[in-house]
Amino acid sequence: MSESTQAWVEADLIISGAGELLTCARVSSALGARSTLGAIPGGAVAAYDGRVVWTGSAEALPEEVRLVRGGQNVDADGRVVMPGLVECHAHLAFAGDRADEFQLRVAGATYQEIAAAGGGIMSTVHATRAASDEMLRALTRRRLDHFLRYGVTTVEAKSGYGLSQEQELRLLEVYRDVAAAHAVDVVPTLLAAHAVPVEYSDRPDDYVKMIVKKMIPAAAKHKLAKFCDAFCEKGAFTPEQCRQVLEAGSEHGLLPKLHADQLSYTGGAELAAELGAVSADHLDHVSEAGVAALAASGANKRLPVAVLLPGATFFLGEGGHAPARRLLDAGARVALSTDLNPGSSPTQNLWLMATMGGSQLRMTAEEVIRAITIEAAAALAVDDEVGSLEVGKKADILILEETRTSEIPYRYGMNPVWRVYKDGRLVVKRDLAGEM
Ligand code: NIG
Ligand code: FE
Repeated sequence: MSESTQAWVEADLIISGAGELLTCARVSSALGARSTLGAIPGGAVAAYDGRVVWTGSAEALPEEVRLVRGGQNVDADGRVVMPGLVECHAHLAFAGDRADEFQLRVAGATYQEIAAAGGGIMSTVHATRAASDEMLRALTRRRLDHFLRYGVTTVEAKSGYGLSQEQELRLLEVYRDVAAAHAVDVVPTLLAAHAVPVEYSDRPDDYVKMIVKKMIPAAAKHKLAKFCDAFCEKGAFTPEQCRQVLEAGSEHGLLPKLHADQLSYTGGAELAAELGAVSADHLDHVSEAGVAALAASGANKRLPVAVLLPGATFFLGEGGHAPARRLLDAGARVALSTDLNPGSSPTQNLWLMATMGGSQLRMTAEEVIRAITIEAAAALAVDDEVGSLEVGKKADILILEETRTSEIPYRYGMNPVWRVYKDGRLVVKRDLAGEM
């Protein structure tokens, strides 16, 4: 072979000896693109300068990859190696908690009854508005630290507990400032249409007008958000109000997302599809037409990813599981997320959502793993950068304690992470006894 056709790539990080390397890469086949994890038994991954440069088999590794001087060779010793997780629906910045509200629900009150009585989202809004910038930054940083220890390397961050121009922008500024100094990638979302604030309780349309005319242009002008989201629900915002908000967002370059059909059927999934939303989230009460709208093939426009939040369903305890099987079988893309928030899902354990995806939503191990990696990345429109181990993508890599794919959703409520690499750099080192 001539010197000009160098057959090997240089790497400064090689992780080899995986029990299974799960690339989660999209592979087109007659069976469809979603059925595979791109698993390579005994596989290896190589990175250079924070990017994946090679994936393949143990046999091909010595021929095709050279470690640069000072580079690191890590032996996974039979463990699963896979992409960093993507948390695609998180209400990250809030102050206070709603532990007492949980007890009211245990005693029989519903989420919507509590909200209508002035609790719910509004009680978190009061606590969040009263918190200092420093306090909100500290809480946000701490939550990102927790996510990272669970192997989550990209996190969505919604506003939504400010509900005034000043307070919503403040939350987005907290995300910008914290993200600048944190390993985790943060994707900010303006969720001003989360609840109607008390100041506007008798004139919700004026609040919507304010979002459209003031908050969206300001968030876009200062490049504080990638997405615009809205809560389409009785007691929150009507489909028509959500349409106004998301269309205004789109006009200003904020990509649409929607909290759709969570507590009751509102036609949210259909609306999300019609507006070309990047995701339609919750879907516990989606209609057959809504399922079809999220799975319609042949359409030119992009279809929303169905983001399912079984933790919220579980924690609210009001029933109505999202029809994951029907969505998947119809051809929709399905992601899973914690929905981290103080009211309906105070958890940061995305692995637990994968287990619920299995036991509650009947998703296979392959489907739930895709749902917290590549499909979640698609729900944030970052699937060209993260969510799978493919050449050119970020070297966000996990080594797990588990050795087989099927163990991932099986051993539940625990943290299977052994090592986390972010942009090719070791950022979390754990063992069975805890942090080191
Ligand atoms: O995704 N549904 C609306 N928003 C959150 C709940 C927020 C809260 O209760 O504070 C959710 O479940
Ligand atoms: Fe939510």
